[in-house]
Formats: sequence, C-alpha cells, structure tokens
Amino acid sequence: MIKIAPSILASDFSKLGEEIARVERAGADMIHLDVMDGHFVPNITIGPPVIKCLRKVTDLPFDAHLMIEEPDRYIHDFVEAGANIISVHVENNPHLHRTIELIRECGARPSVVLNPATPLNALDAVLGDVDMVLLMTVDPGFGGQQYIESMTGKIRELRQIALRRGLDLDIEVDGGIDLSNIREVTMAGANVIVAGTTIFGAPDAAEIIRSLRQNAFGGTT
Ligand code: DX5
Ligand code: ZN
Repeated sequence: MIKIAPSILASDFSKLGEEIARVERAGADMIHLDVMDGHFVPNITIGPPVIKCLRKVTDLPFDAHLMIEEPDRYIHDFVEAGANIISVHVENNPHLHRTIELIRECGARPSVVLNPATPLNALDAVLGDVDMVLLMTVDPGFGGQQYIESMTGKIRELRQIALRRGLDLDIEVDGGIDLSNIREVTMAGANVIVAGTTIFGAPDAAEIIRSLRQNAFGGTT
C-alpha cells in the first residue's frame, strides 16, 4: 500500500486549516509540511507556531520536511508543535547520527533526505537508523517543478539496497509527482508519495487522490 502525503506548499495559505481538513476528507494519509528558512533553500515558509495551530485541525500524521540550516536547534520545537515524522537533509548536516537520535529522543520518527545530486552512498552509515528516506525528485525550494527522470533509477537502487539489508524502509518521493509518473516511482520502490500541485491544483481532491492510488503500481492496489 502506498501513502499519499499532500504538500501544503501548493495550498491556499490564507486558509491552511480548511485546506488540510479538505485533503483529510479526500483520503490523504499524512500531511507533508515544507519548512524552508531562506538559507538552505531560496524560499521561506512556515515554522513551529504555524504547525502548532494546524495540529488542532487534523489527527493525520505530520511529515515535516526541514529545509533549514542547523536543524538540531529546532527539532524539539517541531516535535512539540506536533510533527510526527521529521526529515532532515544530509547535505548540510555533519552530525547525522546525533540529529537522528535527537529526533527519536523527542518522540518523532526520523527520516533523512537526499537532494537529486546527492549520491545514495551518503546514506551508508545511517540507513539502519532511520524509518524513512526521502528522495527529492526535484531540487528543493519550490512546488510545481518537473520530475527529474534520472531519479527513477535512484529510487530503484535504494529499494534494492534496503531489501538486501533486510530493512523495512519507507521510501518517500517529493517533487513533480503526478498521474503520469506515479506508476514509474512506485514500481521502482517508492511507497510514500508527496504531491503538492497535483492535489491542491485539482478541482476535486478526493478524485485525484483516488486516481493517484489507482495509477500507482499500474493500478494493482
Ligand atoms: C519542494 C518541496 C515539495 C513540493 C512538492 O522543495 O519539498 O514538497 O511542495 O511540490 P510539487 O508536488 O508541486 O512538485
Ligand atoms: Zn517537501
């Protein structure tokens, strides 16, 4: 089974609570929260105070994707605000084990993120310690970009590595996922699907989420 995680980056920020309730009713499995600081990525979004308010409108898990410098300084605040899964990038983090441990200590599930240009071997030392790996399928910073085709091979390779090591690993993909490529990424091994523009840009969220599930694995789930 795949999990669908709408990214609120593509929602109407003037009514965030309603937008989250809308995709929850439409069948979303978790909510993907893109946190950007204007340093690690060239965009600025939301932080713990907003997440804390959003926590009141849904019981769905919050999947916080931190695109920020020095994430350790804020992990506690994000968990306290209601984040259930915390994804940290490997590119700007020289102390990954410490960060992963901190996320667990605070009571959330740790995940690590690779940018498209970061090779899979960056995960070697931590793969056994995380619940999920988030593979960026666009360069982070903005919604509405195009899926980078060469990421399909990377997803496949990571799934093979996880299988070889006997790891029950969630592989999340993020960026440019739509009805045309969800089959490709799920067949390659992704099972958690972030979709911003595809879901929030559709007139009927329930229908698009249903179609995404249908198209995943070529319609066999
Ligand atoms: C990009 C973010 C994504 C983004 C995906 O930096 O991490 O979560 O919102 O948006 P779409 O699905 O529109 O590519
Ligand atoms: Zn994201």
